[in-house]
Amino acid sequence: MTRPRTPNLVTLAQVWAGLSILLITGSAAAAEPGGQGAVQVPSMFATASTPADIIAEYSLLVIGICAAIFVVVAGLLTVTVVRFRSRPGDDRREPPQVYGSNQVELAWTVVPMLIVILLGLVTARNILALQKDERPEGWLPVTVIGHQWWWEFRYPEQGVVTANELHLPVGRPTFFDLESQDVIHSFWIPQLSGKTDLIPNRTNHLWMDPLKPGVYVGQCAEYCGTQHAHMLLRVVVHSLPDFERWLAHQRTDAAVSPEVAVGRRLFESTACVNCHTVRGTDADGRFGPDLTHLMSRATIGSGVASNDRAHLIEWVTNPDHLKPGVRMPAMKLEPKQIGQVVDYLLTLH
Ligand code: CUA
Repeated sequence: MTRPRTPNLVTLAQVWAGLSILLITGSAAAAEPGGQGAVQVPSMFATASTPADIIAEYSLLVIGICAAIFVVVAGLLTVTVVRFRSRPGDDRREPPQVYGSNQVELAWTVVPMLIVILLGLVTARNILALQKDERPEGWLPVTVIGHQWWWEFRYPEQGVVTANELHLPVGRPTFFDLESQDVIHSFWIPQLSGKTDLIPNRTNHLWMDPLKPGVYVGQCAEYCGTQHAHMLLRVVVHSLPDFERWLAHQRTDAAVSPEVAVGRRLFESTACVNCHTVRGTDADGRFGPDLTHLMSRATIGSGVASNDRAHLIEWVTNPDHLKPGVRMPAMKLEPKQIGQVVDYLLTLH
């Protein structure tokens, strides 16, 4: 009997190898919905900020030391196994036992101690640099609030609130206050910073200074419930003038378009307004994402789908379909009414 071939395994192995290369080199970029530009592959070694540089360099140091230890130990083990293996005609008695050798014992005590001290000192220096107590001139404050299962971003000095897509200026250091509305989440954009938890009733801090414009992707890195895997976040890093333009637009109230008045009245007369804010209207809920400039975002549902009419219809009809377990209920509107509400949402640029 011939054994069945396993093409799937081969394919999986190839995909995995390809992915590993991408993760290590971070050299590819994927196409992007919403015209925000190419998305970087989220490798922690394809760094684009000072804190990420510090972490990547430190990781390489630790990997290097561990690799050297592995090579020495595995090498000695291989030599021993090959050279001293049992051969025909060997004397089968136990070899002479050696107890206590000052040189050997000193070597395996002192060398690991030096490695631990070195790593300890470098770790302390890096922690101080990552915590960065004094804030440079012109730093930008941003508050990140973790929700099940989406991200809220508040720019307190500018009065801007947005969701899931964080916009930052290139070069200008941003200092984050990290908070949570419900359970513990973790804020992680591998190319820009390390992970930091968002913990209820506590404010954590993190900073980053994105060094080149682009779209960076991140992910909640702490299991926070059924939709933890769909708690994606994207960071759009702009040149300073582009960032100022984005801020100025986000500061404005929602657009008013008379031709979607029916949809707007529907939106304002349903429970939508209990959870969502649309600035300039009566909708001022804070449980769900701020929708004032919904259409300035490329994705909905914290990255589960691209932000277009078809996905908005699907989302409003039954959010659970795109994101099982989501906290937003289906509003049980007629298909025609859903179309009208979505046409209103589509005007919120
Ligand atoms: Cu939020 Cu995992």
